Amino acid sequence: MTEPLFSEDDEEFDRPRLAAHGPVRVRVPAKINLHLHVGPVRPDGFHELTTVYHAIGLYDELTARRGDTLTLTMEGEGTGALSLGEDNLIMRAVRALAAETGHDAFARLHLKKQIPIAAGLAGGSADAAAALVACDHLWGTGLARDDLAAIAATLGSDIPFLVLGGTALGTGRGELVSPVLTGGHAWHWVLAVADEGLSTPVVYKTFDELGGVGVAGSPDDLLAALRQRDPEVLADRLANDLQAAALHLRPELRQVLDAGLDAGALAGLVSGSGPTCVFLAEDARHAALLAAELEARACCRAVRTAAGPVPGARVL
Ligand code: C5P
Repeated sequence: MTEPLFSEDDEEFDRPRLAAHGPVRVRVPAKINLHLHVGPVRPDGFHELTTVYHAIGLYDELTARRGDTLTLTMEGEGTGALSLGEDNLIMRAVRALAAETGHDAFARLHLKKQIPIAAGLAGGSADAAAALVACDHLWGTGLARDDLAAIAATLGSDIPFLVLGGTALGTGRGELVSPVLTGGHAWHWVLAVADEGLSTPVVYKTFDELGGVGVAGSPDDLLAALRQRDPEVLADRLANDLQAAALHLRPELRQVLDAGLDAGALAGLVSGSGPTCVFLAEDARHAALLAAELEARACCRAVRTAAGPVPGARVL
């Protein structure tokens, strides 16, 4: 029996809060999509989605301190490649929270990044969710989780999920999320991280060019498999309509998927818009063995293990 990683009774957002005087540290997870059905393009240019999000234990950490301007520094994954200016989703999230609450958009922010960028793991969205939660605490604005999720939805399709965490059904363009209760069972994953990222808009555009018809369909079978808590059953139900587009743009990902299956993974699929490939393991021990085997094959930049579901952006 594996230890639950995620409590379904989460009251973090229901307590009144005062402004913090010391630094506020927020940890936020990466996400994978266990099911991603892509529907037609809508008039606003987004695709209608039916997805099952799953937060996994691979984290970024954002620290917020009081300041009299808004500044952002970072270390770790993506340093030098990521803009730290006003176009960064963190800055946009802080400005959106300030506009919504009437608070000055002042904070000194520092990001410690472990989630690879442009990887299909929603790292940028995770950081925006962390910024909303961190500044809400720093400023004592005390918004409810639903209010933070509403601001999050204006910033990006999967940011509301990163505020929520756990496992959740996403609809609309992905921004409408409702928790999926799975009884706290832990699933074990191995991630194969690629050298170079893929652009999410380019992957969606390629999906359209390849016919734009999603085949993943309803997530009901996947949701039933989650309740069954049997990784062998779950393995058959994982689905991602963006996988063909990611493979079209990066054919060598096929070798990564094959390497994972050959090494004994129960299943392998591209994570979100890719290029990270994610493999399902039987348990923590199997995940460690699988990771070692994939590392030995040197088929990708880095290999990580992570279990899920875990909570969304939370103050440490
Ligand atoms: O919402 P987000 O900013 O994460 O979306 C990034 C890009 O991914 C969009 O600009 C769009 O090209 C594509 N996308 C989409 N349909 C969705 C979500 C994202 O076409 N439901």
